[in-house]
Amino acid sequence: MDKVLLITGASSGIGAATARAASAAGWRVGLMARSQGKLDELVAELGQDRAIAVAADVTSAEAQHDAIAKVVERFGRLDAAFANAGMGTSSKSAETADLDDWRELLDVNIWGLLVTARIVLPELRKTKGHLLLTGSRAAKIELSGSVYGATKHFVHGFAANLLAEMRPWGGRCTVLAPGIVDTAFFDSPKPDGLKPEDVANAAVYALEQPPHVAIGEVTLMPVPQS
Ligand SMILES: NC(=O)c1ccc[n+]([C@@H]2O[C@H](COP(=O)([O-])OP(=O)(O)OC[C@H]3O[C@@H](n4cnc5c(N)ncnc54)[C@H](OP(=O)(O)O)[C@@H]3O)[C@@H](O)[C@H]2O)c1
Repeated sequence: MDKVLLITGASSGIGAATARAASAAGWRVGLMARSQGKLDELVAELGQDRAIAVAADVTSAEAQHDAIAKVVERFGRLDAAFANAGMGTSSKSAETADLDDWRELLDVNIWGLLVTARIVLPELRKTKGHLLLTGSRAAKIELSGSVYGATKHFVHGFAANLLAEMRPWGGRCTVLAPGIVDTAFFDSPKPDGLKPEDVANAAVYALEQPPHVAIGEVTLMPVPQS
């Protein structure tokens, strides 16, 4: 039976590319994001027998619970989840930042990811499953005043702790740490950045390892070509 992967932030960028790459590798996919229309288009592309759209805002535990339950009900199992939904902020200086911006950033990048983990972990235990998280190179460098970078420090710390919790029952956790990726995350194109497909390939590489191999972290950086 084909394995099942839930992806948050699946409506664009890294999440949508991972849905395509995982589907091509034989996974069935549950697609979560707020943009129902984009998710429906992706389901039409991948095939209704292989993909399901479950629109939800990750900041709502209730909405995520209902969405993930639909994926498990439809496909009967969950073998992996990719907590990838995330956002940046225009507030660059901690001295002048907008507090509402910070709250929204923490709600999506930390709370939303925690809620995903809490809901999927009991399902992943049943399948000795795999949890992937999108961290960032921003967690590895000093970024003046960046709370976005600090949210990704959280993701990397949590990923290491999750791997320690999951390994004893055969589970795995991987954090992906890309540098700049050319996605809608930015207001302008990043032609020298990684492509979302590059990160998707890394996600599928981690997912496709034999059960005794845990890839704890994958760091990806763009290499200038000009
Ligand atoms: N692009 C980069 O350079 C880069 C580098 C390192 C890490 N990352 C991380 O990669 C992840 C994916 O970003 P991306 O680059 O692929 O950008 P993107 O194309 O803007 O994708 C962001 C995804 O998150 C979803 N999302 C945002 N807020 C949400 C919410 N409240 N509830 C549900 N879904 C929500 C968006 O869908 P809806 O708007 O439809 O809800 C979208 O599918 C993020 O965690 C980001 O921090 C990006």
